[in-house]
Amino acid sequence: MIPEQKVREVLDRTSIVEVVSEYVQLRRSGANFLGLCPFHSEKTPSFNVNPAREIFHCFGCGTGGNAFSFVMKMEGLSFPEAVKSLARKAGVEIEERLLTPSEKHAQDERQILLRINDIALDYYRTVLKQKPEAATARSYLDRRNAAGAVAEAYGLGFASDRRDDLVKHLKAQGVDLEVASKLGIVRKNEGGWYDLFRNRLIFPIRAPKGDVIAFAGRVLDDSLPKYINSPESPLYHKSSVLFGLDLALPAVRTEKSIVIVEGYFDHLALYRAGILNVAATCGTALTPDHISLLKRHVSKVYSLFDSDAAGRKATIRSMELFLEQRVPTYVISLPEGEDPDSFLENNSLEAFRVCQEKARPAFEFFVRTVLSQIPADSIDSKIRIVDELIPRFRKIIDPLERELYEKEICRLLGISSHAFRKRLGGLSVTVRDLSNSPASHEHIGDTRQETLLALMWRHAEARSEVYSIGVEKLFAGSYLTLASLMLQEIKGDVDAQELSHFLEKAEAPELKVILSRLFVSDGHLADVSWREVFDSCQRGREEKAIRFSNKDIAARLAVLEPGSEEYAALLQQADLLRTRKSKL
Ligand code: CTP
Ligand code: MN
Repeated sequence: MIPEQKVREVLDRTSIVEVVSEYVQLRRSGANFLGLCPFHSEKTPSFNVNPAREIFHCFGCGTGGNAFSFVMKMEGLSFPEAVKSLARKAGVEIEERLLTPSEKHAQDERQILLRINDIALDYYRTVLKQKPEAATARSYLDRRNAAGAVAEAYGLGFASDRRDDLVKHLKAQGVDLEVASKLGIVRKNEGGWYDLFRNRLIFPIRAPKGDVIAFAGRVLDDSLPKYINSPESPLYHKSSVLFGLDLALPAVRTEKSIVIVEGYFDHLALYRAGILNVAATCGTALTPDHISLLKRHVSKVYSLFDSDAAGRKATIRSMELFLEQRVPTYVISLPEGEDPDSFLENNSLEAFRVCQEKARPAFEFFVRTVLSQIPADSIDSKIRIVDELIPRFRKIIDPLERELYEKEICRLLGISSHAFRKRLGGLSVTVRDLSNSPASHEHIGDTRQETLLALMWRHAEARSEVYSIGVEKLFAGSYLTLASLMLQEIKGDVDAQELSHFLEKAEAPELKVILSRLFVSDGHLADVSWREVFDSCQRGREEKAIRFSNKDIAARLAVLEPGSEEYAALLQQADLLRTRKSKL
């Protein structure tokens, strides 16, 4: 842990213009510096650096943040790594805070558990290489082109069919079995200690730096389950681990992209063929944690799932997460029924590269999948298609991308963009969507709320007014989070540079990006009356609340018996709402 005070000091002594200039040629443009964005390819500069605020924002790809965010993204570093790297340049010395006793204990335990995994792995590898009982495993690997150097690179091993071979080996090495059982690889029942993996090929699962944190074991025939995996443990959280990322990182860093596959054997197939920037999920769907991990290293993801119905479903589900976290994602499609392993078995690397070049943006893949499932041959089916598309369409945050897809959808369906937008603004938003608004992006792009947020920074008076009426009356979604944070963190007048510190408080990258976008050039706000924007925000939120309760009422009226008591009461309520709205 780097103490917060140090983080501040580093930021104070760092000039973002200098940091960025090491990578990007900047030129003055008004109060800002302007250059070609290093995070996407562009011909006219939309990458802005605001030297007073110490932040940057690219209006082309939406990346933004402070000096730390820049270095993290540019160099693929973690936050502490970025702080340390800038500290060195700024001449700030960082001694890490001493660990508390419980942190120390956790760290010691981690070391011990890693050591146990190492011993187990060594053991499994020796068995695979030398023992007669591993003969079938060796010929299995031969058949799957995974013997020799490939097996070495991954550290593959074999667990024999006996009940407690690993148990005995760990004991002989002086390992405390109770401790080892925290890893799930040995267990105890009435009969005593026994091994988790029996008669299985062993894949070590490693953290990005190469530590073995878990194992997967595959059967050598068609019996089930095909794989058994180490359970969750203090070392292993499968929802945030990607198999093979340790091997892939050097290539990922240079290519700034990664191919995501589903299976261990798919990973082997690609890596062996020379596609080194590849990682696999460990028997789970992709999670937001996976994506945060990837975002540190890449600006583009290829998803490569099996070409069957299940694979398409997984592709679409992961697309939603990538859209939410603004990671450009392309879908590689292989011929129907093939997985990467089978494809590369029968085709050349060049053939694979052709498929990769033809990869389509994930959202386009999604639109095509929906169109192939529901033929757009009647009004009814067109409405069904649009309703299928809209919830995911909402997750596209980039305005330009939204516009392009809107056009494409309208073209494919032969509908007007007016009709599309009507549907977008109407039907599929329910009262429930609103109540869990933090996760929804429906407020992103609300210029009133954005403007008010920016003005709150400038005017302490606006902050106290927002505080007294209640932030949730004015803001929703990410804006609500940011406005609350601002009230909590910012007192009195603030100097320009304070913003880059505030950015650190807004931990989530998507919040940082909103801030950098709002503040990188806000000179035009100098003469705007915060009071007017405040009033307009308040009206906007009230109108919206009424619109939604109206819709709720309409939906209920549709299923009630006209003339019933409840029906009459609802009608009355709708009337009341109408008068309230006309007074706004
Ligand atoms: N998986 C798992 N448990 C299972 C089946 C699958 O954890 N019982 C996970 C594994 O991570 C596996 C991935 O899902 O790699 C994909 O499954 P599958 O395609 O069946 O496995 P492959 O590794 O591709 O193996 P093979 O090529 O031998 O079928
Ligand atoms: Mn497979």
